[in-house]
Amino acid sequence: YLSSFKIGAYNGYTSQPSPLPIPDSTYSLGFGLMPTDYMYVTKCCVGQNFGHGQLNRYGNIELSPSAGVLNYGQGLFEGTKAYRKENGKLMLFRPEENAIRMKIGAERMCMTAPSIDQFVDALKQTALANKRWVPPPGKGSLYLRPLLIGSGPVLGLAPAPEYTFLIYASPVRNYFKEGSAPLNLYVEEDFDRASRRGTGSVKTISNYAPVLMAQSIAKSRGFSDVLYLDSDNKKNLEEVSSCNIFIAKGKIISTPAINGTILSGITRKSVIEIASDLGYQVEERVVAVDELTEADEVFCTGTAVGVAPVGSITYRNRRVDYKTGSGSICEELYNTILGLQTGSIEDKKGWIVEF
Ligand code: COI
Repeated sequence: YLSSFKIGAYNGYTSQPSPLPIPDSTYSLGFGLMPTDYMYVTKCCVGQNFGHGQLNRYGNIELSPSAGVLNYGQGLFEGTKAYRKENGKLMLFRPEENAIRMKIGAERMCMTAPSIDQFVDALKQTALANKRWVPPPGKGSLYLRPLLIGSGPVLGLAPAPEYTFLIYASPVRNYFKEGSAPLNLYVEEDFDRASRRGTGSVKTISNYAPVLMAQSIAKSRGFSDVLYLDSDNKKNLEEVSSCNIFIAKGKIISTPAINGTILSGITRKSVIEIASDLGYQVEERVVAVDELTEADEVFCTGTAVGVAPVGSITYRNRRVDYKTGSGSICEELYNTILGLQTGSIEDKKGWIVEF
């Protein structure tokens, strides 16, 4: 089975890496893929542990047409960002949380996961191998995308006999085309993202393609993205296609509780802790869609998205506008978490891994 996977040595992107740092002008970045020099790869047969990974040139991979991931969607992904510090060192934010989430997801998807240590070590190796692509301080970050896929062949529906763990990297900055401008969301009622006891809470690749249709309809109507409601009653907030959601009223910040259908975001978890430290009352609970009418602020959180202000939400043809910008809670939380991630605010929580 191991022979079902080969690494393409050259795919047209990966000419010899220049010893020079990437020019500053490269960093007028959004969230498009900019291929980098190396990717980390390791694989294992079911029931075994992943071997030491290796850094290969970034390029296409070869898979059996009957790979579990291609036929039955047996795959998980993660996302984290490496930032460059003023002293030239790199920093990761709570990388073991991604490792734990992948382990939990792998259990749900009947896959073999790398250990926490291997996962974190692989992130560091990938970031270091692509160090020249890590934007200078204040210009963005190197997004690291770990993938765990069922790479072994299957025909009948069953777990794949071989798994591949790989990490590739791309420099990024703002996720939405709005840049740091407020988002305009649309409350989705025709499509659901996740159902009770389904896989909404794990980062399986199969949660993401199904949201594309609702997202593209909303975009064609001028919205930034859609906000999903619970699939049972369509009464309570769940999350946006690629991020979690928070509402704020006075000094109270609320976010939908993790209930099996909502992705357990690492930025979400961190924002909850930071907001409590800053003196806000933070509530993880059922948040009714009707509360959108009364909220002062709404914002999204996610690794790719960061902490993003929501300027308006449209629900059943009614648009409600929210406070954003200077003096907003969203801005305070954005500055605090980004300050921690980039090293301009001292990390007293042990969240930063510097290397
Ligand atoms: C992230 O925030 O890192 C994600 O994995 C979401 C993805 C849709 C970009």
